[in-house]
Amino acid sequence: MKTFRTDTYGGIDSLILQHAEPPGALAAGQVRVGMRAASLNYRDLMALAGQLRGPKEGLIALSDGAGEVLEVAPDVTHIAVGDRVALTFNTGWLGGPWRPDPTCLTTRCCPLQGVMQEQMVVQHSELVLLPEQLSFAEGACLPCAGVTAWHALCGERPLLPGMVVLLQGAGGVATLGLQLAKLFGARVIMISSSDERCQRLRALGADETINYKTVPEWQAAVRDLTGGRGVDLAIDLGGAETIDRSIAATAMGGRLAPVGLVTGWPNTVSSIFTASVDITPVRVGSRDDFQNLLRAMAFHGVQPVIDRHFSFEQLPEALRYLESGKHFGKIVIDF
Ligand SMILES: NC(=O)c1ccc[n+]([C@@H]2O[C@H](COP(=O)([O-])OP(=O)(O)OC[C@H]3O[C@@H](n4cnc5c(N)ncnc54)[C@H](OP(=O)(O)O)[C@@H]3O)[C@@H](O)[C@H]2O)c1
Repeated sequence: MKTFRTDTYGGIDSLILQHAEPPGALAAGQVRVGMRAASLNYRDLMALAGQLRGPKEGLIALSDGAGEVLEVAPDVTHIAVGDRVALTFNTGWLGGPWRPDPTCLTTRCCPLQGVMQEQMVVQHSELVLLPEQLSFAEGACLPCAGVTAWHALCGERPLLPGMVVLLQGAGGVATLGLQLAKLFGARVIMISSSDERCQRLRALGADETINYKTVPEWQAAVRDLTGGRGVDLAIDLGGAETIDRSIAATAMGGRLAPVGLVTGWPNTVSSIFTASVDITPVRVGSRDDFQNLLRAMAFHGVQPVIDRHFSFEQLPEALRYLESGKHFGKIVIDF
């Protein structure tokens, strides 16, 4: 079977397409999945560049995928051959609050192997069933980006209708966050790098948008839009260049969910000491979060925004496109 891996953690250029034996016979509780689609996340670039804790022997790329069940162990009763499934991101976090427990850190594509392999054998608990409304490609968009957006919106302190949410950029987490925040009846303010992208975000449902290139003090603009009050929830995806501004844009008593590091690790977050906001870091989410997300998307007919599809062999090209930041929504690999 085909796999895409790095042995040297030298970034995109170190990826090699390799043929490997398919995984062997199933053990108790296991399921064999024929992979059909994968999606890219910003963290894949970090994983391949050795910026995350990866296995010494090298890493199979990408964390998010979906496929078709090819075989189940005799003791697995709730999943059948032919079922359409997606793989969970935090393989050991089934539900409830996140715990500082090593089993919660078993994430696919650092430290576990990723999904760029034509067949995978996993524990049945690492799978969720895809609703018929979602294709393999759409299901593959959700394990990291979708569950992260969902958990940030409703994992710690659920949104109420009319609350104001701030989201950043037009990548995977941001576009899914927008679509999901609208399900909660929220008012969504977004910042993005161009007027054209802002216009596309409004077409997708954003209530107000700010071009952060032409309005670098966008936190003040967010305050103005909310009558000086600030937002109820700021989902920070930028990191270094955005986190202090996100805090400044959040209402007293509101919530900051630090999620991303697109512009690097913050050096100082001194504003944390002066802001009266709750800070709830996000570590993607649990399998329960994923199942709740799928039920909501199926009922409300929400489909992830897919910018482009690439073939398996085009993974390096797809990652370079992700790196360029020009995508709007998700990038998918079709197997
Ligand atoms: N903690 C967690 O559990 C968790 C889970 C998932 C993802 N993440 C992190 O969340 C971040 C986003 O992930 P993703 O997969 O959605 O990334 P992505 O699809 O690559 O999107 C990144 C987007 O960020 C925007 N951006 C770039 N510079 C910005 C700036 N200065 N201010 C605001 N926005 C900026 C760009 O959109 P525009 O050009 O439209 O501005 C870009 O397309 C990454 O850092 C990722 O590692 C964390």
